Amino acid sequence: MKRVITYGTFDLLHYGHINLLKRAKSLGDYLVVVLSSDEFNWEKKQKKCYFSYDQRKLLLESIRYVDIVIPEISWDQKREDVHKYNIDTFVMGDDWKGKFDFLKEEGVEVTYLPRTPEISTTQIKKDLKQRNLI
Ligand code: CTP
Repeated sequence: MKRVITYGTFDLLHYGHINLLKRAKSLGDYLVVVLSSDEFNWEKKQKKCYFSYDQRKLLLESIRYVDIVIPEISWDQKREDVHKYNIDTFVMGDDWKGKFDFLKEEGVEVTYLPRTPEISTTQIKKDLKQRNLI
């Protein structure tokens, strides 16, 4: 069984996220999603989420491509995660291109997938404001 891992915040889940998860799963048989905790988002990424960790987790767990959701609490946990979950392939969108190549040292394939154009959580928030929907 080929096991794939990916990381992210996945706030205000959108079709760019689904495309990423679908392609990630197609690279193997089992997909682990490591979901940034609220504390990690705020303290390390300076991101405030609309949905809480538990709400974002519930949404992700309802997606057919996702097999398990675990918390991301530090930048440094990746080396440990790939061994703990017996990972073959690490996947991220190409906004992170090159950033996690060091995982190859752990015997893991590292793949950056092209982002879906235009859509992002940040863009959704901007659009809602611009179109006077909020
Ligand atoms: N992603 C993607 N295509 C998009 C948006 C996101 O492939 N249009 C991918 C990212 O590259 C990442 C994962 O989805 O691998 C989770 O991204 P995340 O940062 O949670 O989503 P964004 O919409 O980019 O959020 P933000 O605007 O807050 O950065």
